[in-house]
Amino acid sequence: MAHKILDLYPKLTHLSEDELDFTEFTAAAIPILPGEKIELTKSRFLTAIQNFTKLDLNIELTNWPDFTAKAGEIIEVPISAGTLTRIYLVGIGDQSEDDFRKASAALGRKVKATNTVLISALATEKAKVITHSVALVLSNYQFTFKSEQKDKKPVFIIYGDFDEEVAHADLLASAVWQARNLIHTPSNIKNPEWLAKQATAMVSAAKNSSLSINIKSGRALKEFGGLSAVGNSSPNPGPRLIEVSYAPKGSSNWPHVVLVGKGITFDTGGISLKRPYDTMVAMKSDMAGAAAVLCATVAMAKLKPKVKVTALLMAAENALSATSQRPSDVIKHFGGTTVEVLNTDAEGRLVLADGLAYADLELDPDYLVDVATLTGAATLGLGRQYAAMYTRQKTIAKKLYEVGSQVGEKVWHMPLIDDYSVALESDIADFNHLADKFGFSAGSVTAALFLEKFVGDRNWVHLDIAGTGRSETDAGENVKGGTGFGVRLLIEWLGSF
Ligand code: BES
Ligand code: MN
Ligand code: ZN
Repeated sequence: MAHKILDLYPKLTHLSEDELDFTEFTAAAIPILPGEKIELTKSRFLTAIQNFTKLDLNIELTNWPDFTAKAGEIIEVPISAGTLTRIYLVGIGDQSEDDFRKASAALGRKVKATNTVLISALATEKAKVITHSVALVLSNYQFTFKSEQKDKKPVFIIYGDFDEEVAHADLLASAVWQARNLIHTPSNIKNPEWLAKQATAMVSAAKNSSLSINIKSGRALKEFGGLSAVGNSSPNPGPRLIEVSYAPKGSSNWPHVVLVGKGITFDTGGISLKRPYDTMVAMKSDMAGAAAVLCATVAMAKLKPKVKVTALLMAAENALSATSQRPSDVIKHFGGTTVEVLNTDAEGRLVLADGLAYADLELDPDYLVDVATLTGAATLGLGRQYAAMYTRQKTIAKKLYEVGSQVGEKVWHMPLIDDYSVALESDIADFNHLADKFGFSAGSVTAALFLEKFVGDRNWVHLDIAGTGRSETDAGENVKGGTGFGVRLLIEWLGSF
C-alpha cells in the first residue's frame, strides 16, 4: 500500500506595519484583554481595520455582554469588506504564556483546514510572537490516510516587524510537525529500518555539513544486549542504533550533549503481553522519545549553537514471536552489566541502558539526556501536562523547568529515591530491571533508578514523557495521538549554549 501524507503545514509569514493592506486578507484577528470594562485597546491596527471596514468594533462588542475575554474565547464578526469576511476578537486572558498559547490555538482551530489568509495582531512583543505563531501552526496539525483528503490550509500573517521571531517559530513548529508525522505513522509502515531511512532523509534534506548520520544494525549491535534482546523479537528488519551528530568545524572543545531516545516502533509488551489489549493501540507512539531527539537535533543545527550534539535513537520493535526474549532471561548490556529480565513489557529501559552506557563509555558527554515514553506510572503521577524529570543536577533541572514553561513543554523535577534502589537487586545478575520488589510502587522512580546504573558519573537527565508524548483529546495545539513533546524544549535548551 502506497501511503501519502499531504503537506498541510500552513504558510507562516509576517508583515511590517507600513505594509498593511486589508485587500490581501480574508480574516483578521485582534486581541482583547479581560477587565472591568471589556473594550478594544487603541492601536494602529485597530484604527486601520475600522477605517477599512467602516465598523466600530467596540460597538460590535456591546452585542456580546457575556464575553469575558478569557483565553480562547472568540467573537467571530462576519463582514463583507473586499476579500475580508471575518474579524476574530480573541480573548487572551491573563497575559501568561499558557493563556496566550491557549488563545492562539483556539484562533488557529477556527481556520483549520480552510484557505483563510489570516492577518493576526494578537502578539505585540517578541516572545509572545513565537508562542503565538507556533500555536497557530500546531493547532492546524492533521494526519490522515483517508482516501479522499482535503488539501486546504491557511496562511498566517503575523502583524509587525517580527522577521526573526517568525522564522524561529517556523523552525520550532516544523520540527514538532515532523516529529508528529513520525509518531502518527502506523507501525505496519514504521519499523526500525524505516525510522533509520527517515532520519537519513531528514539529515540529507537539512543540507548542513555539520550534521552526519551513522546507522548500526545486525552484527554491529552485538554488544548492545538490551537493544538486541528487545528488537530481535520482530521478524521485521531488526533493531537499529541511529546516531545523528551535530559537530561543526572547530567544535572539538565545545560541550557535548548526548541525547538518547526510546525508539520502540511498536510495543506489544512481548511475551509479557500488554493487558488489557486495548492499551496496545497507543503503542505506535512508543518511539516518541526517538522522534523528539531526532527532530530537535536536525532543527537546532540551523541555530548554530556552540555545542556538540549526538542523538542516539534506540530503535526496536517489541514484538510477540518465537524469537521474543523470555521473562527470566539474563542479558548483557553495552559495557558488560548483566540484567535479569523479569517482564518483557519493561523493554524501554533495556534499550535505553545500552544507549546510556554507550554514551558514557564511548562519547564522553558533558550532559547526557534521555527522552522516553517509559512508564504508565509517570502518567498516573503527573497526568498529560508535565513530563517527569529525573536528575541529580539542580541547575539543569531549573533551566529545563524554565525553558519548558516558556515553550509549553513542562517538566516536573521528581526525586531519585535512593531507598528504593534495593528493588533492583537480582539473585542471578547485576540487577533486575523491573524493580517491583518490596512493594515500593513508584514505577517511574524505580525505572529512573535503573537507568542511572548506566550513566557513570555523567550529568544525566531522564525525561519520562509517557504522559505528555501523547494526547487523548483533539484540543489546543494537539490532535489525538503524538504531540511531539520534547522537541521545543530540546531545541531551546540546546540553542541556549
Ligand atoms: N511503553 C510503555 C509505557 C507506556 C504506557 C507509555 C502507556 C505510554 C502509555 C512501557 O514500555 C511499559 O510497558 N511500561 C510498563 C513497565 C512495567 C512493566 C514495569 C508500565 O508502565 O506498565
Ligand atoms: Mn512496554
Ligand atoms: Zn514501551
